[in-house]
Amino acid sequence: MHHFTYQDGCLHCEGVNLEQIADEVGTPCYVYSSATLVRHARVIASAFEGQDCLIAYSVKSNGNLGVLSTLAQEGCGADVVSGGELQRAMRAGIPADRIVFSGVGKTAEEMRLALQAGIHQFNVESAAELRRLSEVATMLGTDAPVAIRVNPDVAAGGHPNISTGKKGDKFGVPWSDAEDLYAEAATLPGIKVVGVDVHIGSQIGDLVPMRAAFEKVVGLTKRLRDAGHEISRIDLGGGLGIPYKEDDAPAPPSDYAAMIADVTQDLGVQVILEPGRVITGNAGVMLSTVLYEKAAPETDFLIIDAGMNDLMRPALYDAHHDILPIKQAGAGAERKTYDVVGPICESTDKFAKARELTALRPGQRIAFMSAGAYGAVLSSTYNARPLVPEVLVNGSSFDVVRRRPEFEEMIALEKVPDWLTQKA
Ligand code: LLP
Repeated sequence: MHHFTYQDGCLHCEGVNLEQIADEVGTPCYVYSSATLVRHARVIASAFEGQDCLIAYSVKSNGNLGVLSTLAQEGCGADVVSGGELQRAMRAGIPADRIVFSGVGKTAEEMRLALQAGIHQFNVESAAELRRLSEVATMLGTDAPVAIRVNPDVAAGGHPNISTGKKGDKFGVPWSDAEDLYAEAATLPGIKVVGVDVHIGSQIGDLVPMRAAFEKVVGLTKRLRDAGHEISRIDLGGGLGIPYKEDDAPAPPSDYAAMIADVTQDLGVQVILEPGRVITGNAGVMLSTVLYEKAAPETDFLIIDAGMNDLMRPALYDAHHDILPIKQAGAGAERKTYDVVGPICESTDKFAKARELTALRPGQRIAFMSAGAYGAVLSSTYNARPLVPEVLVNGSSFDVVRRRPEFEEMIALEKVPDWLTQKA
């Protein structure tokens, strides 16, 4: 459920007309709904009510400070994968002891930052990383709370590019090595083993592969306890899918929570979850303006002012985003089939192929739906385009929570080398 609806013939976010935001902020831009973020955070929290559970929102799906602060107020923790995300989460008011640090390539400096902050847990992904963490923690005279991320060899995820739990994926410790690594961890100074971690992929609508992976993790937890390890937490990652199209029907959070309660019952552990997309995905849209229409022999191109640098998902994963006109077309309005493309000089700069939409004219505004997760965070300045702005709506008001940079700000990070500016 989300808060983007037509009111008086115009698409609104909560009480704000998106046409007004497009006029004031310019396009392209992202618009997020506070009410939807809050609703999703509460749906997840209430699904897990009664279970000992930490909801560590996955910052990578949308790390905007306004979004993070909204979720911090809802009591969310955070799952971070870099020093930058750690600092963002803390800046937004998420307490360090509710933050878990995932990712295959943590640097010693990032480890130090996280240890000094006092984070809840490191999700360690290799023997080499574990040894490095041991060194850094020992140097700081502290113990790092560690879960080892295991690779359960279970395939899942909406697209091969977002499956992470299969043998051969770079993520996690190979299943057959896990117990040996726990044995080594128990001997390392500065390492305090606290849990087991798994994450098998993203945009997973079917609970069957998740259950298979989680059951393997529960089995491993029992074997580790038998071997003398104190496992008091299991981190089951994120990955729950969302509807991108009207007829998509991913498993609802309530079924997901019931499955987890069933699999982990009697284990006596804290369950950590790292939901990203399910909280932010349908809480955001990207607005764009139609620039031109170009008729070609095979197709009609609709050329818009947003590019793949602003919303990468279609180019990267062939992802589908519904496209809605901000001004609602009347009943019986003409419909046309378009290839919707951006201004970037790449053939993959295509948002939709042969998409039937109401006929659109230059100057008209459109909204890419379900763009709140992995949208603005993946944007770049390719083709020297400014980073796309972000707007947060709250009821009938809105605020620009990331503004569009000026050209001078963008170029200020660069310089012409001295040898070109110094005359002989
Ligand atoms: N935890 C870990 C360790 C992860 O790698 C991820 C996502 C999450 C949690 C959050 O997963 P979620 O609940 O959002 O599915 N850019 C791609 C998705 C990449 C997901 C990366 N990892 C996309 O746009 O579909």
